[in-house]
Amino acid sequence: MGRRGHLDPSPVGHVPVLLQEVVEGLAVRPGGRYLDATVGGGGHAVAILEASAPTGTLLGLDRDPEAVARASARLAPYGDRAKVIHASYGDLLTVARREGAVPVDGVLFDLGFSSWQIQDAQRGFAFQVDGPLDMRFDPGSESPTAADLVNESSLETLVDLLRRYGEEPRAMAIAQAIVRARPIRSTRQLAEVVARAVGRRGRVHPATRTFQALRIAVNRELEILERALPQALMALKPGGRLAVISFHSLEDRIVKRFFRQEARDCICPPELPVCQCHHHRTVRLLVRKPIVPSPEEVEANPRSRSAKLRIVERL
Ligand SMILES: C[S@@+](CC[C@H](N)C(=O)[O-])C[C@H]1O[C@@H](n2cnc3c(N)ncnc32)[C@H](O)[C@@H]1O
Repeated sequence: MGRRGHLDPSPVGHVPVLLQEVVEGLAVRPGGRYLDATVGGGGHAVAILEASAPTGTLLGLDRDPEAVARASARLAPYGDRAKVIHASYGDLLTVARREGAVPVDGVLFDLGFSSWQIQDAQRGFAFQVDGPLDMRFDPGSESPTAADLVNESSLETLVDLLRRYGEEPRAMAIAQAIVRARPIRSTRQLAEVVARAVGRRGRVHPATRTFQALRIAVNRELEILERALPQALMALKPGGRLAVISFHSLEDRIVKRFFRQEARDCICPPELPVCQCHHHRTVRLLVRKPIVPSPEEVEANPRSRSAKLRIVERL
């Protein structure tokens, strides 16, 4: 499933998480203008277009050309109401302005990857299937692949990467094993090197954190997210809403901190007696705690189990 050139625009490839909660959280209304920063297979986009019918519009971005092709096919029935563009959300504001799409009533980020991306061995995201160690969301880009990082980084860089992006407690043992086993070319080879280095305990595969760390590093995911969130706020009308679904604590921490900071007037360190930052709050927090999927959703779609949805409203 999910091989380029064999696009399946049907909704079965990827089940969108927290669908109803996103539509309600963004307060999608007929005639509204929306920006889906991670359009993927277009699941959330369809729900937004349906709820904003008959005249609401949606601009969808994705860094993966295959996602762009899938979403374009899926959203074609909506004609001029939907447009999909190959772009990174790191350039969200520039792209949205160029498309005449700002200001918008709502922006959605559904972070991470689609089911069909992870199931496609050629993309190299998963250790469950054997393929080249790529992991780039945009395989046509010039950026280094996971194989480049694994085979060319120093031991210290690998340790840092595994700790920082994988929160891997056995980073040193894994990095040493990787350095000894180089060159490592395939997902399965890497998974086996990690498993041999640290052994198998419990149900979670020992290479899970290594793969997460490499994917985040290859795509500079956290850095780009930090750059994108302020742009999303700038794209919103007053009263417009920003919804972000994250799938692991590193992403959620960035979103939570950013939202809390934007919801406060002064962000000076507490030891300063007088405000020097002159920061004014730009958002209202709509939920104090993140919205998580119901047990029924997790049962029906296990991929949703770690999802957290946070929403703010632009003042
Ligand atoms: C979880 S999926 C989105 C699924 C989508 N909401 C749906 O209902 O089908 C995340 C998507 O974000 C894309 N992505 C990752 N990093 C990106 C970036 N920097 N800019 C734009 N899209 C990105 C991935 O290629 C993937 O298609």
